[in-house]
Amino acid sequence: MIIIGSDHAGYELKKSVIAHLKETNVEFMEAGCMDGESCDYPLVAKEVCEKIVNGKADKGILICGTGVGISMAANKIKGIRAALCGDWYSAKYTRLHNDANVLCMGGRVIGSGLAAEIVDIFLTTEFEGGRHQRRVDQITDLEK
Ligand code: RB5
Repeated sequence: MIIIGSDHAGYELKKSVIAHLKETNVEFMEAGCMDGESCDYPLVAKEVCEKIVNGKADKGILICGTGVGISMAANKIKGIRAALCGDWYSAKYTRLHNDANVLCMGGRVIGSGLAAEIVDIFLTTEFEGGRHQRRVDQITDLEK
């Protein structure tokens, strides 16, 4: 189960990614904002990330204007490894090496076609484990 949310600046890209998730039969829940009205991205990050930490969703997708603010907010939440991606290579390797559980994108930065590719790669690439598990554990240790 995926959960996807955006602020107003990411709203159009969120709608486009949702259409793509439907086309590719990916089960998802939608979080705020539910229209294009101005809203605060830290609150959206909280709503999405809490669902992941509580086990209600496996992975999240967060979109704001740049993807930067919403990724900063998401990474404050224990258990969240949020990766801002604007290219497929980063999306692939943040899954392989970082076991990222939240994908962040910038609605004012990338287009819908690239976003769909990034989402596909992020959702289908498995964590490699091995030496990368040790490093992910070291990231988790930083939460203490
Ligand atoms: C909203 O105007 C904008 O600041 C926000 O979407 C995001 O880009 C922040 O990082």
